[in-house]
Amino acid sequence: MRNIAVYPGSFDPITNGHVDIIQRGLKVFDKMIVAVLENPEKSPLFTTKERIEMIHQVFTEEKNIKVKAFHGLLVDFAKKNRARIVIRGLRAISDFEYEFQMALMNRKLNPEIETFFMMPNVSYTYLSSKLVKEIFMLGGCLKDLVPKFVEKKIREKFKKEKNRLNL
Ligand code: PNS
Repeated sequence: MRNIAVYPGSFDPITNGHVDIIQRGLKVFDKMIVAVLENPEKSPLFTTKERIEMIHQVFTEEKNIKVKAFHGLLVDFAKKNRARIVIRGLRAISDFEYEFQMALMNRKLNPEIETFFMMPNVSYTYLSSKLVKEIFMLGGCLKDLVPKFVEKKIREKFKKEKNRLNL
């Protein structure tokens, strides 16, 4: 039986920390499904389609990755995709409480599914999509935080939003 792992998240947008976790996961699992949460209530900066396209663009050469949108319960998505493993990145102790709660709740919902935590390279332990957007908005440098083309997408998106809002 192939070990299929689901790596879920908002990916709004994908950061170098996410890329690092996916690359590590690929060394351990046969196939990875990157599951992009459709979360209109969170008002993401990028649409689900844009978030999926950006992840595809990073891993164009990689055959063992699928990128899919999901909504509803993560454990249901995992089961439907014949995955028994959920991967989550653990950056710092501050992540732990939320991740612990989610992992145990997912286990309660479906005891067949195991959560695996992976630590990114230490240089990404302070990185998040939220901070990336904030840094960009405040004129900071995104070098080493997101892939180069993602930085360009962020720039385009904010420009579009500014025009739309007539700012
Ligand atoms: O990148 P994020 O926003 O931290 O990812 C959170 C995510 C998508 C993993 C989480 O919100 C999730 O699994 N949502 C699906 C709904 C669900 O299954 N909820 C019960 C989890 S205990």
